[in-house]
Amino acid sequence: MASEDRPVTVLDFGAWKKQGRKITSLTAYDFPTARWLDAAGVDCLLVGDSLGTTVQGRETTLGVTLDQMVYHAEMVARAAKRAFVVADLPFLSYQTSHADAIRSAGRILKETRCQAVKLEGGRRSAATIRAVVDAEIPVMAHLGLTPQSVRKFGGFKVQRQVDAIRADAQAIVEAGAFAVVLECVPAPLAETITAEIPIPTIGIGAGPGCDGQVLVVHDMFGLIEGFRPRFARRYAEIGELMQGAAARYVADVRSGEFPGDSESFH
Ligand code: KIV
Repeated sequence: MASEDRPVTVLDFGAWKKQGRKITSLTAYDFPTARWLDAAGVDCLLVGDSLGTTVQGRETTLGVTLDQMVYHAEMVARAAKRAFVVADLPFLSYQTSHADAIRSAGRILKETRCQAVKLEGGRRSAATIRAVVDAEIPVMAHLGLTPQSVRKFGGFKVQRQVDAIRADAQAIVEAGAFAVVLECVPAPLAETITAEIPIPTIGIGAGPGCDGQVLVVHDMFGLIEGFRPRFARRYAEIGELMQGAAARYVADVRSGEFPGDSESFH
């Protein structure tokens, strides 16, 4: 039985699937957020290349660089006391050759305390996954709506190619991935794949039948204005809290109410 108070290792993922214990994952991009999420008992912190859209304010993840991933991954991994930390390999850091993929994944392990990398694609990435795993680097795969394929998909759309995604799932298992993110696929398909493969599925917009769930913290904490994916339940409205607090500060400074006597040195 995996203990809840020692650091999570890659071996726990398979054990948890066998036990039917749901795996919890959230994205994190900085030290303080990672500290709070780790203290809350989140099993896996994902330093996603979603930082392109959440932190950098871009429309897609395509512009994120490996240097930026290393920068954020180092902070998150340093903050995590218990959680397993995985960092994304960004666009074009692994598609160009197996040597590039190993070098990029190796940088994540050498320059941060992350325990694994995540990369997108099924059959098309299987040989790359095998090459990285053969370099002793654990790989989490990512199927369904793979955001680095947004230009090919013509937008961020639910992926419904049942046979293709099932074949992709088999391919990444054979390639040696230890877990797989299923993003924006129909719930029955995710449930089928979860029953068919021996490694845990971690769903986002993939229904309740997965072995675990992952959410993007900026979605769940209400830090992003506008578009709300239907699968991203809002657990807090921190953006509104920040705006309210900042507005009170502005009013207090303008009125002379801040700083007060107790906030000044004498
Ligand atoms: O980049 C990311 O945050 C991700 C999650 C959406 C799974 O890949």
